[in-house]
Amino acid sequence: MKEPVIEMRNITKRFGNVTANENVNLSLYPGEIHALLGENGAGKSTLMNVLTGIYKPNSGEIYYQGKKVSMKSPKQAVDMGIGMVHQHFRLIPPLSVAENVFLYMPDCSTVLRQKEMEDAINACSREFHLDVDASAKVWQLSVGEQQRVEIVKLLYRGAEILILDEPSAVLTAQEAVEMFKVLRRMADSGKSVIIISHKMNEVMQNADRITVLKNGRVEDTMEAKDATVERLTKAVVGDREFVPQIRESHHCSEAAVLTVENLSVKNDKGLTAVNNVSFSIHAGEIFGIAGVAGNGQKELTEAIAGLRRAENGKITVKGEDLTKLSIRKHIDNGVSFIPEDRLSMGLVPGLDLSENMILKHFGWEKFSRKGILKKKAIDETTKDYIQKYDIKTAGIHSPVGLMSGGNQQKLLIAREINGNPSLLVASYPVRGLDIGATEAIHKILLEESEKGTAVLLVSEELDELFQMADRIGVMCDGNMMAVLDRENADYDTIGRLMSGEKL
Ligand SMILES: Nc1ncnc2c1ncn2[C@@H]1O[C@H](COP(=O)(O)OP(=O)(O)OP(=O)(O)O)[C@@H](O)[C@H]1O
Ligand SMILES: [Mg+2]
Repeated sequence: MKEPVIEMRNITKRFGNVTANENVNLSLYPGEIHALLGENGAGKSTLMNVLTGIYKPNSGEIYYQGKKVSMKSPKQAVDMGIGMVHQHFRLIPPLSVAENVFLYMPDCSTVLRQKEMEDAINACSREFHLDVDASAKVWQLSVGEQQRVEIVKLLYRGAEILILDEPSAVLTAQEAVEMFKVLRRMADSGKSVIIISHKMNEVMQNADRITVLKNGRVEDTMEAKDATVERLTKAVVGDREFVPQIRESHHCSEAAVLTVENLSVKNDKGLTAVNNVSFSIHAGEIFGIAGVAGNGQKELTEAIAGLRRAENGKITVKGEDLTKLSIRKHIDNGVSFIPEDRLSMGLVPGLDLSENMILKHFGWEKFSRKGILKKKAIDETTKDYIQKYDIKTAGIHSPVGLMSGGNQQKLLIAREINGNPSLLVASYPVRGLDIGATEAIHKILLEESEKGTAVLLVSEELDELFQMADRIGVMCDGNMMAVLDRENADYDTIGRLMSGEKL
C-alpha cells in the first residue's frame, strides 16, 4: 500500500461552544478520489478549511508526505500544492478568467501581457480537457464554467491535492459527468482529490473511498465498492426512516395567481434568454419547470420576481400587472423568491440571522414602528424559524456567512415562506441540502400549496418534479417546449423535450 500523501490526526475544531470537528482522522492517498459525506452542519467544510490553513485546529496534527506540518496560512497550503474550490466560488466577477487565474499566482505582481496570460491558461485548460475561454469576463460565465475556472486556477498553480466543496450541487447532470472525468484524469496522473457531496449515488459511482461525518466526528469510512445507499444513509442520518414526500392527485383552484403572457427576457450578455413564453399557475398549484440549467430558467424566474426587465410580454400576479413595477411592488403583491445563488442574491453574508430575516419585511408593523426596529420581536421570530426549520447556527446574532451552506439555504427558505406569499418562485430549493432537510423542505412546499400558494418549482432533478409538481413545463433554449400534466408526463418525453425535440 502506498503511503498517504495527507494524514489528518485527531483534528478538533471549535467555534465558541460549537464543536465543528471532534477527533477526526482522515487519510488521503495519491491517485485517489475521496468523498466526504454528512448532514448539513456535520463539519465537512470546516475540516477542509483546517486542511487548507484557513482555520487553525484547537488540537490535532496534519502530516504531509509523512512529515508533520503546521498550516499557518492558506498561502502555505497553496505553496504545498493543496488547493480548494469553495462551496461559494471566490472569483472576481469583473475580471477576466486569465486575470483571476493570475491573481492566484505567487508572482502576480509582475506585469504580464494579456495575450501571454490567455495563451498560457488556454494551454493548461486544454491539457485537462477543461473547456474555458481565458478572455471571458467571469460575470458572464455560467456556474459550471466558473467552476472550471476555479479548477484551472488550482491546476495552473500546480496543485497536487484538489479539494472541491459540493462541486456537483450547481452543475447540470452532463456537466457533473464531465467534471468527474476531469477529476479521474487528475487522479490517474497521481494527484489526489477530495470531494464533498450530498449525492450518494454520484459518490458511489465516482469515488474510491468514502468518509461520513456526523456531528463533527467520523461516523464511517469505507471503500466505495463496499458502500450501499442503506449503509451511507444510516451513517449520515442514523436509523431515521425517510419517506419521500409525494404530491397526491390534487385539484387546484380555477383562479390563476400568476399569468405570464408572451414573455421575452434577455440575459446578462444581452442575448434573448426567454423567448415568447406563456403559462399560468393556479392557486394551490405546484408548477414545475424542467430543463438543463442555463436554458432561460434563471432569467424567467428573475423577471417574475421583478429583478430583471421584461423585453416583451406581460406578468400578472392576482390580476395586478407587475411587468414594469419595482421589486418592492412584487414583494408587496406577495411574490416570494428563492434564488439559485443564495449568497449573492438571497442573503447578505455579513449580516446576522435576524437582520437577514427581516431584509424584505422590516417595514411590517410587527417588526418596526416609525422607522425604529422592534429588536425583541425580530429576535423572537428568528428564533421561531430556527426551531421550526431545524437551523444549526452559533446564534441569531452571528453572521450568516459563517453558517454551513445547507443551513443558509434553510434560513433563506424560512424567510421567503413566512412572508405569506401568493406566489413562491423556488429555484433549486433543495440544492446543497442533506436528505433530511430535503424531505422537510418538500413537505413545506406541499403544505404551502395546500394553503393556496401558487408554487413555481425550478429543478433539474426529474424525480423531484415527478414527486412534487402538478404540471411540468419544459424549457429548452429559452422556449417553453410544452406543458404537461404530471399524469401524462414520463421521463423519456421530458428528456426529449429538454434536448429540444418537439412533441
Ligand atoms: N467560522 C465559523 N464560525 C462559527 N461557526 C462556524 C464557522 N464555520 C462553521 N461553523 C459551524 O460549524 C458547524 C459545521 O459547519 P460546516 O460548514 O463545516 O458544515 P458542513 O458539513 O460543511 O455543512 P453543509 O453541508 O451545510 O455545507 C456548523 O454548526 C457551523 O454553523
Ligand atoms: Mg459545507
